[in-house]
Parts: sequence; structure tokens; C-alpha cells
Amino acid sequence: MKQINDYIDSIFYNQDNILEEVLISIKENGMRSISVSSSTGKLLSMLVSISRAKNVLEIGALGGYSGICLARGFGSKGKLTSLELVESYAKLAHSNLTKAGFGDQVSYMTGPALQSLEQLVSSNKEFDFFFIDADKENYENYLNYCIRLAENGALIVCDNVLAHGSVADESVEPKRHTEFMKKFNETVAKHPQLESILIPIGDGLTISKVQK
Ligand SMILES: C[S@@+](CC[C@H](N)C(=O)[O-])C[C@H]1O[C@@H](n2cnc3c(N)ncnc32)[C@H](O)[C@@H]1O
Repeated sequence: MKQINDYIDSIFYNQDNILEEVLISIKENGMRSISVSSSTGKLLSMLVSISRAKNVLEIGALGGYSGICLARGFGSKGKLTSLELVESYAKLAHSNLTKAGFGDQVSYMTGPALQSLEQLVSSNKEFDFFFIDADKENYENYLNYCIRLAENGALIVCDNVLAHGSVADESVEPKRHTEFMKKFNETVAKHPQLESILIPIGDGLTISKVQK
């Protein structure tokens, strides 16, 4: 899996100073380097653009890497709402999105995402694209909230669903989140309101189209 991903990244990587700066800022602020891979970021931009999504919800901002990729997909005509547990992370993400030209098109809700999602449901918000990339234990809860908040035909994309390959290969160590992700993938695959597929880019992404 790593060899194939390194190959994809090496062939399809475009030099990108803005995203490189984001990765540097994350390190400089003592945060973990757990942004999406460059290929995953590119796929996010393409999915938002191809689906013509204009109202995107992200769960897990970190330093804004995936946020910039999502915003690039809608360009000057969309809006990103991003949920992040840690206030200082959201501040860094906002500063990085501002440098990338999207500062006025993004709003952050800080604190536990489940609380922010409840608030969004209470205020009858709707979105046409979702990216889930926060604490893995809550993926199924996040998925259910996203379905409630989705317009008909919206896309829900979830990262890290291969758990470093451990969902398919028992010899892979460490087995972090393996059981959560196995169960999550089955839920996504069988969900009556979702049409889904898993793409093995980065740490694996499920892509689901919501039917309401
Ligand atoms: C893998 S990182 C996100 C990376 C980001 N999507 C990117 O690629 O640029 C996960 C983020 O989720 C946040 N997070 C963890 N638990 C959370 C929770 N309960 N509510 C909201 N955010 C949470 C973490 O603080 C961290 O910034």
C-alpha cells in the first residue's frame, strides 16, 4: 500500500508552495503531522469541483491543509464550515486559509464536533459536501449527523478508513482503529441511504452519495 501511494504521490504531485507552508506551520506549532496526503488533497479538490459543491462541512481542521484543498474545489463561489476541537488549531487553520485566499469563505466552530453538529442540526443547516477526518471513535456518529445535514445527492468523504491497511491485512501493525474502521466500512457499504465506494489513496477514503 505504501509503495503504491508513494508512486502515485511521486507522479501526480505538483509543487505547491502554499500547502508546503501549511505543513511547515504545523511542525513549527508543535502539532502532529497528520494532514491528508498530497494525493488525497488533490482528490478532495477534484471531488468538490466535479460535484459542483458550494457548501462544504469539514470535521477535523488541524492546520488547514484539507480545508485549502476543499476550498480550491469551489473557488470563489463557495463556503467552508470547519469543526475543530482545539481553538489554537482552528486559529492556525484560519490563518493558513487566509494566506491561500479563502479567509472570508471559511468559518470555524471549535469544541467537540458532536456539539457543533447538534447546533448545525438545530439551526436547520444543509450542506452538499462533507469531509470527515477527526477522532475515529466517533466516525459512525459523524456519518449519521452528516446524513441528517445533507442535501439530496450530497457527497460524504471519510479519511483513514483503511487504518494503515490493517482492515485488510492482519499482519499490519500497529492495529490502531482497525476494528472501528472495519465496522464503519461495513456500515457505510450497507447503509440504505448511501451509495458508496472505498478508494485506496492515502490511508483510504470512502466516498458516499446520499439519497434522501
Ligand atoms: C487528522 S487531523 C485533521 C487533518 C486535516 N483534515 C487535514 O488533513 O488538514 C484530526 C483533527 O481532528 C481534531 N479532533 C479530534 N477530536 C475531535 C473532536 N471530538 N471534535 C472536533 N475535532 C476533533 C484534532 O484536533 C485534529 O486537528
